[in-house]
Amino acid sequence: MEPTQPAPPTSNISVRRGEPLVVIEHVEKHFGELHVLNDINTVVNRGEVVVVIGPSGSGKSTLCRAINRLETIDSGSISIDGQRLPEEGAALAKLRADVGMVFQSFNLFAHKTVLENITLAPMKVKRMPRKQAEAEAMTLLERVGVANQAKKLPAQLSGGQQQRVAIARSLAMNPKLILMDEPTSALDPEMINEVLDVMVGLAKDGMTMIVVTHEMGFARKAADRVLFMADGKIVEEATPADFFDHPKSDRAKDFLSKILDH
Ligand SMILES: Nc1ncnc2c1ncn2[C@@H]1O[C@H](COP(=O)(O)OP(=O)(O)OP(=O)(O)O)[C@@H](O)[C@H]1O
Ligand SMILES: [Mg+2]
Repeated sequence: MEPTQPAPPTSNISVRRGEPLVVIEHVEKHFGELHVLNDINTVVNRGEVVVVIGPSGSGKSTLCRAINRLETIDSGSISIDGQRLPEEGAALAKLRADVGMVFQSFNLFAHKTVLENITLAPMKVKRMPRKQAEAEAMTLLERVGVANQAKKLPAQLSGGQQQRVAIARSLAMNPKLILMDEPTSALDPEMINEVLDVMVGLAKDGMTMIVVTHEMGFARKAADRVLFMADGKIVEEATPADFFDHPKSDRAKDFLSKILDH
């Protein structure tokens, strides 16, 4: 050993960034006659930020839900950190703890305070002592800028504040990956940026993120890659600059002209 060598980086992310974290192969899903996921293949590497974009009904939410196993798939495979998604039981609970999920509608527990919303899973699932869970929760609430709201109930917060609490809650389990499904689309315009700023911060910190959003500013600023979906297929996969400035397919051109128009 060379004593003069610099210490190895301590963060998992900087050591392992670039390895495949989510591997999706030949995934198929039908709802009755409807082919919602049609031969989906992609790899999301550790530390990567992937934005999923596409018209309504193209299968974006279904794909997110399948990655978290909230939805079953007909065939193909999805693995996270080298492990195929378990069917059920303790292994599935473990996987869920590794994958944070943020929804359009916040989904906070209405009768629990902001602080309790965040400490619940670490205390229940990880058996973390209350004191430690609360200290960590306060650090997370500070990170998303709502520490002064800790004692309130979700209904006493604005939408933007609630969504930032939801993000803090997903971080409390120290997930390997965060999935976000249209996290800003239920918000009033003046609250969108405060949530996007938190998301950009997470991306900069090296969090692996899969984000369904039509916020092009976020995609351009934070995404490594854009997946454009239409009719259950990944139609284009490109860097944000390439995708927004030089879409290749007619579907993408048509879609972009619509979202740019308003
Ligand atoms: N549980 C379900 N049962 C039957 N059909 C469903 C179910 N969930 C979704 N679908 C259908 O599957 C298709 C894909 O839905 P999905 O929610 O994944 O689309 P999306 O791309 O997220 O759309 P949006 O932009 O409107 O959120 C849609 O046609 C939808 O109606
Ligand atoms: Mg959706």
